[in-house]
Amino acid sequence: MSSVMTPETLASNAIKLSDIPVNYVPKVTHYDQYLIDGELKTWAGATSEVYSTIHTQNDQGEMVPTLLGTVPDMESESALQALESAKKAFDRGKGQWPTMRVRERLSCMERFVEKMKNHREEIVNLLMWEIGKSLGDSQKEFDRTVDYIYDTIEAYKKLDQKSAKFEKEGSIHAHIRRSPLGVVLCLGPYNYPLNETFCLLIPAIIMGNTAIFKPAKHGVLLITPLMQAFQESFPPGVVNILFGRGRKIAQPIMKSGFVDVLALIGHSSSAVALQDQHPNKNRLRLVLGLEAKNPGVILPDADLDHTIKECISGTLSYNGQRCTALKVLYVHESIIDEFNRKFSKAVDDLKYGMPWEENVFLTPLPEPNKPQYIKDLIEDAKSKGAKVLNKKGGEMTENYIFPAVMYPVDKSMNLYHEEQFGPVIPIISYKDINEPLDAMAASDYGQQVSLFGRDVRKIGPLIDILANLVCRVNLNSACQRGPDVYPFTGRKNSAVSTLSVYDALRSFSIRSFVASKDNPYNNEILESLLNSNESNFVSSDYIL
Ligand code: G3H
Repeated sequence: MSSVMTPETLASNAIKLSDIPVNYVPKVTHYDQYLIDGELKTWAGATSEVYSTIHTQNDQGEMVPTLLGTVPDMESESALQALESAKKAFDRGKGQWPTMRVRERLSCMERFVEKMKNHREEIVNLLMWEIGKSLGDSQKEFDRTVDYIYDTIEAYKKLDQKSAKFEKEGSIHAHIRRSPLGVVLCLGPYNYPLNETFCLLIPAIIMGNTAIFKPAKHGVLLITPLMQAFQESFPPGVVNILFGRGRKIAQPIMKSGFVDVLALIGHSSSAVALQDQHPNKNRLRLVLGLEAKNPGVILPDADLDHTIKECISGTLSYNGQRCTALKVLYVHESIIDEFNRKFSKAVDDLKYGMPWEENVFLTPLPEPNKPQYIKDLIEDAKSKGAKVLNKKGGEMTENYIFPAVMYPVDKSMNLYHEEQFGPVIPIISYKDINEPLDAMAASDYGQQVSLFGRDVRKIGPLIDILANLVCRVNLNSACQRGPDVYPFTGRKNSAVSTLSVYDALRSFSIRSFVASKDNPYNNEILESLLNSNESNFVSSDYIL
C-alpha cells in the first residue's frame, strides 16, 4: 500500500511479540462452534481467519498483521437452521420463554451476567487486538456492558411492578403488560462489538423474544468466551449465535419473512438492504442505530480552552470511530484563527501507540482500508481548497493515519458529506448562525449536536431550534451516548426507535392486555385466575 511512513510519530505501527506485556500477548484461537437450539455444535465447514491490523513478527521475521485465530464461515443453510430454532423457541407465542414468568426470565439473565464477569480479561484483550481499542476504553466497554445488563434487570422489575395490577376504565377491567414480539435478528457494529450488540440482544431476550445473533465484521472472537454462558443460561433456542458474512446469514433469514424485529447498529444502507429482503414489511419492527454527522457549533463567546478539550474527545476518542463522534466543527469567523491554531496543536499533542500503552489516545485502526479511505478524503478536500492545518495530519502507516485538521471545508468536498468514521476533522467557519442550522436541516442525519457558548440570550433560542433538528443537544460538552439510562436515538437516517435501558425494553415489546367487562361472572373468573397461578400473564406477582 502506498503510504507516507513516519517512524518518528507513528513508530509503533508494528511490535515484536517479546515487547508486548505478558498479559496482553494474544493467544491464537481456532473457534469452531456455534449455538443453535441450545446446543454448541461443531462447525466442520469453511472458516475465516481473524487478523489484527497490529503488526507483529511472523516465523520468517517479517512484520505482518497478527493472526488472532479462525471462526466458522457459515452458510445460508445454517442460518435457516438458526431461524427454525428461534421460531421453535418462540413457538408462535406458546414457547417456554415467551410465556415464562418475568422473575424466571430475570433469573436466567442474572445467571448469564454472573458467568460473563468471569471472562473480563480475555474479552478486554480481544477488544484491544481485534478492534484496536485502548485498554482503558476496552475495560470501560466491558464494565459498561455488565452495568447495562444489571440496569436492564432492574428496569424490567420496575416495569413489571407497574403491570402487576388491574386497571378499570368505564366498565372494563384491564390487565396490561408488555409482551414480546417474536424472532429478533440482532446485528451489532464493530466499534462497540460487545456493548452495542448487547444493548440490542439483552433487552430483546429479556422481554421474551428469541434471537439470532451474528457478531460484527471485526470483534468476532471476543464473543466466543461467552458462548457457553449463553448456552447454559437460557432455554434452548432463545439465543442462537452464528459466525459468517451478512450476505450468507442475515439475508436468507430476512427473506424468510419470519423475522419480527430487525435490531441493527450499523449503516443505514445495510438496514435498508435487509428490510428490502423482508416480504412482509408491516410485520417487521425496526430498532436501528445508524450513522450520524454530529456537528459542534462554536459560538463567539465560547470558553476556548474548554471547548477544545471537548472537541478533542468528541472528534477523536477511539480515533473518531463512534457514531456519536463530532464529525464537523462550525466555528464562528471571529474566533476561527485562534481556534484552529489551538485545536491543531492539541491534536498534534495526542499520543499514538499500542492499545495497552499508558496514556495512549490514538490507536491502530481495525479496518485495513480505513487509512487509505481517510487519505482519499483529505486529498479530495485539498484538491478543492482545504488545507491540513496540523503538522502531523495525514501521516500514514499501514494501519494508521494521524488525524488531519482540515480547513476550510465546504460542500464541494466529500468530507463535508460523508460520515468519515475515522481520524479527520473538517472545520467550517460561519458568519451567521443560520449557516450551521441550515446545514443541519439539510443533512440526512439528526442524532446530536454540541453547542459551545455562554450567553443565554443566544443559547436559549438556539437550543429551541436544535432540539427540533437532533435528539440531544450537548451544552459545552462532546456528543455521547451515555449514561445509558438516557434516550439514545436520532432523526432521519440516524436511527429508528430509542435505546435507553428503559426505552429498549419498550422497543422490543408491545403492550397487550386482557380486558373484561365488569360483571359478577367475569370478576369471579378473574379473581380465581389471580389466585390460581394458572396464568403467568394474569398475575399480581410483585418482583422485589
Ligand atoms: O458508535 C456509537 C456509540 O453509540 C457511541 O457511544 O458515545 O458512548 O461512545 P459513546
